[in-house]
Amino acid sequence: MTDKIHSGTRFGTFFIKAFNSPVVSVVLLAVLAGTGPANAHDKATGVVKQRMDAMGMLAGSMKAIAGQVKSPSPDPDAISVAAQALRDHAGDAMLEGFPEGSLQDPTEARPKIWKEWERFSELAERLALQGQGLILAAANPPSGAAPESSTPHDLESYATLPVDELFLLTAKTCSACHQDYRVKK
Ligand code: HEC
Repeated sequence: MTDKIHSGTRFGTFFIKAFNSPVVSVVLLAVLAGTGPANAHDKATGVVKQRMDAMGMLAGSMKAIAGQVKSPSPDPDAISVAAQALRDHAGDAMLEGFPEGSLQDPTEARPKIWKEWERFSELAERLALQGQGLILAAANPPSGAAPESSTPHDLESYATLPVDELFLLTAKTCSACHQDYRVKK
């Protein structure tokens, strides 16, 4: 518990320094809550450990992209590489990490994942689409603005967005899934 608070604070400080936009900081704090070197994760085994590791990689990719989009001239190649990792750990690859009923301690997954599998899958697939979208939008200049919540979730729309707005939409997908399907411990 103590470790979690410490790691949260550490990332929090990093992001508050890195971004001018309060909306970006808040979204990222939510996404990265619970990440850090020492948490429940260390005791995990099997598929639970695998999916936690994969989620940790997602957090790493999000941090890498955040580091770029806060800059006035982001490096499209760096964004693209991190976005590929996002895409490849989302979608079906992510869903394979959640075989029915896999709730072994110390998981933070909630049982309703399997009652609401369709919505859970939609969020995992949306993340894959956003990973692909970020590759297409990697060279689009950042706007410094928040994305329209009415942005359609398709590749064509993603490809035309300022890269920081698509990044924020992507972070919302992480948060939406965590809010409903991950226990806050
Ligand atoms: C489709 C749902 C879903 C999406 C989308 C999703 N996550 Fe998760 N995430 C989960 C669940 C469920 C857990 C808890 C897994 C467990 O403890 O077994 C989790 C756990 C985590 C953890 C904690 C891992 C650990 O070591 O305990 C991190 C970090 C994380 N997610 C980051 C992210 C990031 C960053 C994104 C977006 C790029 C993301 N997740 C997208 C469902 C999702």
